[in-house]
Amino acid sequence: MSSDIVWQTMKITRAEQEQLKGHRSFCLWLTGLSSAGKSTLANAIQQELHWKNWHTYLLDGDNVRHGLNGDLGFSAKDRKENVRRVAEVANLLVDAGVIAITALISPFEEDRKMARACFAPGDFIEVFVDCPIETCMARDPKGLYEKAQAGLITDFTGISSPYEEPLNPEIVVNTAEESIRESVQHILGYLREKWEWEVLKQ
Ligand code: ADX
Repeated sequence: MSSDIVWQTMKITRAEQEQLKGHRSFCLWLTGLSSAGKSTLANAIQQELHWKNWHTYLLDGDNVRHGLNGDLGFSAKDRKENVRRVAEVANLLVDAGVIAITALISPFEEDRKMARACFAPGDFIEVFVDCPIETCMARDPKGLYEKAQAGLITDFTGISSPYEEPLNPEIVVNTAEESIRESVQHILGYLREKWEWEVLKQ
């Protein structure tokens, strides 16, 4: 960034944005293998929060790669940039008083650490959507594991590119053992404990 760029102060603050929305804003960062259930869970948690009249936005890896990140592939360098851009957008949403939910494989610990660093302490909640790769491969709704195993897709997470399990996630859900409903309750339970609902709902 050029040293000639100076930060502009904005008249409307995040606190005022949150007050208008009527709740706190934060980022729920879902990470896990392809087919682990991130998008399904992200949608379910978004619905729960939406039904409480909370303002949310879901940044899903597959969708974001159709637009904002359409120029990126799956090399380690491109995945880092994918994570960086999504973290920056999520941070803007949080600044606008919105609950940002992300569903990206985000396979590298270093990149997730970089994403966390974009946010104020406590505003980044990392959710490890854990699921054994065998189960993900058995689900394979898009047939991508099959293609990756046949060598038709390179750098495929879990097959020809690593997935580094989170070292210190705030929440771990296991979609092979829990139903989506149970995982949603688990996440809501965490939020309820972290901030009393009354505090959360300002
Ligand atoms: S990330 O690793 O950069 O965070 P992201 O979540 O955006 O990945 O995109 C993953 C989605 O892209 C998967 O759900 C899958 O549908 C698709 N995909 C296509 N190629 C690959 C690949 N080589 N590795 C992983 N996912 C892939």
